[in-house]
Amino acid sequence: MSGIVVLGLQWGDEGKGKVSYILSRDADYVVRFQGGANAGHTVVLDDGRELRFNMLPAGSAAGAVPCIASGTVVDLDELEEEVNLLRSIGVYRNLLISKCANIVLPIHKSLDRALEEARGKRSVGTTGRGIGPAYSDKALRIGLRVEDVLDPEALSSRLEVLRSIHKVYGDVEGYILQKSSILRESVCDLELILNDVIDGGGKIVFEGAQGTLLDIDHGTYPYVTSSNTTIGAVSTSCGVSLRKISEIVGVMKAYTTRVGEGVFPTELKDQIGERLREVGGEYGTTTGRPRRVGWLDIPLLRYAVKINDVDWIALTKIDVLSGLDKIKICVEYEVEGSRIVLAPPRVSLLEKAKPVLIEVDGWTKLSRDEWRKISEKGVDALPENAIRYIEIVEELLGKPIKLISCGAEAGLVVWRT
Ligand code: IMP
Repeated sequence: MSGIVVLGLQWGDEGKGKVSYILSRDADYVVRFQGGANAGHTVVLDDGRELRFNMLPAGSAAGAVPCIASGTVVDLDELEEEVNLLRSIGVYRNLLISKCANIVLPIHKSLDRALEEARGKRSVGTTGRGIGPAYSDKALRIGLRVEDVLDPEALSSRLEVLRSIHKVYGDVEGYILQKSSILRESVCDLELILNDVIDGGGKIVFEGAQGTLLDIDHGTYPYVTSSNTTIGAVSTSCGVSLRKISEIVGVMKAYTTRVGEGVFPTELKDQIGERLREVGGEYGTTTGRPRRVGWLDIPLLRYAVKINDVDWIALTKIDVLSGLDKIKICVEYEVEGSRIVLAPPRVSLLEKAKPVLIEVDGWTKLSRDEWRKISEKGVDALPENAIRYIEIVEELLGKPIKLISCGAEAGLVVWRT
């Protein structure tokens, strides 16, 4: 039995795409189980080709069958583009989409923008991909599901309701029909297929999007996305019991980033932050927005590790820290005279939190070639202070760091056993 979950422990952009790609190399299926085209997962192949995925799981670039489960909201434009991308690199295997997945319509994108404008100073800083409105329609039970698109009667009755509520005009029906051929080829009872694959001894990677702190229940509400990004979502979205999950992998960056608005206790607004942003290429894959950057935040990570019951950690972008004389880590918060070592991401608490930082020695800047040699030689070739940094983080979180990513290309990784 092999169901492996890859999920983010911070505010997204942890490098889940690369980790999922690596773990999907020997997987049969790889599944997106929440979110929509707000995600931006990048895979850089060893020949330098960069593949970007917003809707399909990045692991599908490794040749696993791409799946989209019911808890996602499907952007048909992105879907078409990414299927073509997989075809162009010769790894496309027939996509499977749950008949229950909801569809993002052009009206949802317009509403997303209008809602952000209406919030003014309190806008969330969404990706503008129509995510919130699409999930709201689902909760209101007026959403359009994949199965409706394939049944002309259901489609016109659904659209009638949608129109009467959103006052949508324009040729929505035409848009849906134009995009429906991919759905026709892919629609299925995904939950039954996934259960059979695991029961039959196959391997499935469940690829999370966004991160724990953007979870609609467990994140920094209201500055969150509109889906559950944490472990339970795998089960509700895919119809696969958590008993069938054999491994939960938490992905975290060696520092912290956040896109959009909301509290960020360890944010750096100085030259070091600027440097990390530039060296780390911290600009949104989906929107191109500069990401906010800060030191590692252990109290929030402890929370993420706990609620997802992570088995092991993949630590990414360790290379971005090279060349810094000293590196800081927030190990606890001081809040109104008390020390907090594990913090639930509540905005009211985090706004008052003063990070307590420890300082560790950095290591010299290394070129891409030097990182490549390190990844060929293995963990002992890492700079001594980088190993120390990894061990400190491991100790603070109480979980093993088994995979270290030290560059964008898929081959730039070091495994620790
Ligand atoms: P939405 O998901 O587009 O509604 O955006 C809600 C919040 O989640 C905003 O702060 C976005 O910047 C953030 N967000 C959504 N998707 C991602 C992602 O893939 N990476 C990082 N932040 C994201």
